[in-house]
Amino acid sequence: MRDVAIVGVSQTKFGELWDKSFRDLVVEAGVEAINDANMSGDKLDAMYIGNMSGGLFVGQEHIGSLIAEHSGLTPIPFTRVEAACASGGLAFRQAIMAVASGYYDNVMAAGVEKMTDVVDATPAIAAAADREWEAQQGVTFPSLYAMMARRHMYEYGTTREQIAGFAVNGHKNGALNPKAQFQREISVDAVLNSTKVASPLNILDCSPVSDGASAVIVCPAEDAKKYSDTPIYVKASTQASDTIALHSRKSLTQLNATITASRKAYDIAGLEAKDMDIAEVHDCFSINGLIAIEDLGFFEKGKGGQAIEEGLIARNSQISVNTSGGLKARGHPLGATGIAQVAEVTWQLRGDADKRQVDGAENGITHNVGGTGGTVAIQILSRNN
Ligand code: COA
Repeated sequence: MRDVAIVGVSQTKFGELWDKSFRDLVVEAGVEAINDANMSGDKLDAMYIGNMSGGLFVGQEHIGSLIAEHSGLTPIPFTRVEAACASGGLAFRQAIMAVASGYYDNVMAAGVEKMTDVVDATPAIAAAADREWEAQQGVTFPSLYAMMARRHMYEYGTTREQIAGFAVNGHKNGALNPKAQFQREISVDAVLNSTKVASPLNILDCSPVSDGASAVIVCPAEDAKKYSDTPIYVKASTQASDTIALHSRKSLTQLNATITASRKAYDIAGLEAKDMDIAEVHDCFSINGLIAIEDLGFFEKGKGGQAIEEGLIARNSQISVNTSGGLKARGHPLGATGIAQVAEVTWQLRGDADKRQVDGAENGITHNVGGTGGTVAIQILSRNN
């Protein structure tokens, strides 16, 4: 297997982007990533695109061909990858495997979603749950994660304030990210007093409905210096599955797919949780961020709330979590999120993260979840080959 490096990254602004179409977003992100890699498009061998539901959000399937045409890059193979909100993470992993195996040299992984063109995004998002046993019974994603929050509070004494603290941390970082959907700080009180969505979760515990795209270019590590002075190395790329239905799980307070995929990734990378300086974790709801920092091994199970309260996930603390703002503040255009996480960790490791830069970051991890944990993709990135 060949070592793989990241030589170009990009992200469009995330938000309600009325003046940009689905295809505009991917092409904008793709062109920026190509420019960032000092590469021309004709050097690309293939492209993988993470997209959860072009069909339900904008009535568009056959995404690969659409983007091939509008990027002007026909006839190279374009492949759409779908795993709900983990679509981007899996698209990146396909690109890694293609380059590591020697099948291709230069590959782009992109992610895109245009969610704000529908009047109500909730039914489309709910398609990522078990249709017969969850969605058709009226269960939505906020309510599934609300059950996980209640159970975490019951089992570990986690407080409502501690859960809210995860969103506060994300907004603090998002305020420094010009590409974030929400660039403003919030307080714990603001979260607790915001509109109820699914008790105990309020609107300020939820990631928003977003439009956006992101792209990453990878190549064999031995070629990386041709394209970038600061290539970032992919130390591990893993994926694990779990039941799609929450009620089939033995525990509601951990994501087994996160534990399995992250342990495998640490093993492959020869690194441990304590070696991570930064982490982009999947806080589609604040409780999922709290659960993630436990499942990824940064804090003991049940102690995530206390860690948030003690400021141990703030920038330049024990581990800098969601320096981009996370899904909560940067925004969560479903298929784009896993790629945007890789872009943020790359900027941080290169030292290109401007006002939100973490001091001396060497290693980082991304954690991208589909549904309530039916799919999890983990990437470990490093400045060091
Ligand atoms: N965080 C902060 N502010 C938010 C927000 C969020 N998550 N969602 C909406 N807002 C703001 C809007 O910007 C708007 O502000 P404005 O009046 O100043 O313009 C206001 O709240 C009302 O927005 P609106 O779009 O009417 O909200 P909504 O009630 O339709 O949607 C949610 C709110 C929480 C239901 C929606 O954001 C949602 O479904 N989030 C979860 C998405 C999801 O499930 N993703 C997949 C996870 S697995």
